[in-house]
Amino acid sequence: MAPPLSPARMHLASVGVSKLCFLFSLAFCGLLLLLIPALQPPGRQAVRPQPRPPVRPTRPHRLHHAEESDAAMWLSRSPAAQGGVTLTAVAGTDGLSPVGATDFKGDTLSGGAGRDPSRSRTWESLAFTDVFIAVKSTRRFHRSRLELLIQTWVSRAREQTYIFTDGDDKELQMRTGANIVNTNCSAAHTRQALCCKMSVEYDKFIESQKKWFCHVDDDNYVILPRLLQLLSSYHHSQDVYLGRASLDHPIEAPERVKSDGSVSVKFWFATGGAGFCISRGLALKMSPWAGLGNFISTAEKIRLPDDCTVGYIIEALLEVTLTHTRLFHSHLENLHKLPADAVLEQVTLSYGGFENRQNVVSVVGGFSQTEDPTRFKTVHCLLYADTDWCPKPRSKS
Ligand SMILES: *[C@@H]1O[C@H](CO)[C@@H](O)[C@H](O)[C@H]1NC(C)=O
Repeated sequence: MAPPLSPARMHLASVGVSKLCFLFSLAFCGLLLLLIPALQPPGRQAVRPQPRPPVRPTRPHRLHHAEESDAAMWLSRSPAAQGGVTLTAVAGTDGLSPVGATDFKGDTLSGGAGRDPSRSRTWESLAFTDVFIAVKSTRRFHRSRLELLIQTWVSRAREQTYIFTDGDDKELQMRTGANIVNTNCSAAHTRQALCCKMSVEYDKFIESQKKWFCHVDDDNYVILPRLLQLLSSYHHSQDVYLGRASLDHPIEAPERVKSDGSVSVKFWFATGGAGFCISRGLALKMSPWAGLGNFISTAEKIRLPDDCTVGYIIEALLEVTLTHTRLFHSHLENLHKLPADAVLEQVTLSYGGFENRQNVVSVVGGFSQTEDPTRFKTVHCLLYADTDWCPKPRSKS
């Protein structure tokens, strides 16, 4: 283990022995320091953690007060947290390797959406008019986001789709015939304002008498035939809560509704950004905590965002479990990972928006990336080729 002979060492030979000994022990210590990582138990190094985004806060296992919970919630809604269960589980260490189409087989409707495929289902013949679709928006996105939705999927479900926003837009309503509801909630992107909108959505749904409540955001494309197919595999009188889990573990929060907050509860919730659906049977049971403005006070008690509060009422208070599905997608996922041939089999899609314009689903069709940056028009034309503004198929000549 002697250091290699070098001109420096030969020069040292003329120096006193004690000085040489001192230098030698110094070199030995240096060598030992270099060896420390290699001497650690192999488990530490060999098992690489799941790929995560570069900046990842520590996971919030306990949420105590408003600021912490909100911040933790938004932060933990990272792409990896979103796709952690499915999308990145098979990915390489860089988290970027492509996911094969087979990984989405479980996401096709025939494969079922629930965790337990053996679960018995009651099939129901369902019409589009049985579904109430709530789109959450805000004034400043009426032009940039809503117009696109109204032009595409909303045009195929005009009667049962309601846009919940925070300002009047008579012009948009007149021109498009869309159902625009001014919730009178604040336009701020705060927990209170979002919960205020959810509260109005819930009450409107109950009033509508429809069989299913589905909530989406204004950057979601809803593939209506797939939504109907998915909901038809359940019965609206059963307790059904369908959506994509935001995290790969349940969240834990102090129980402040049934008790004083000294005990905590663990529950799953469906991320609002990907959309979720609730059967009428379950929605009616939620009414003590969600109806007639009670949603706002429930959210205030537990100090969690709107979609977490829905999960809390359903899983923690009503003890009904979330049916996990990967057919719903939010802009927080890596949307490129959806294989092109599986895109039209999903229930909801999304796109990256200002922060990440490149994050869109891979579809090839009549519109270029410049003409259709969100890919929603391309998806729409693949689904409804008869739409008047869709490119006509090139005639063979
Ligand atoms: C919002 O306020 C207007 C005017 O006061 C009212 O007519 C409307 O019903 C309110 N909307 C909701 C959802 O409460």
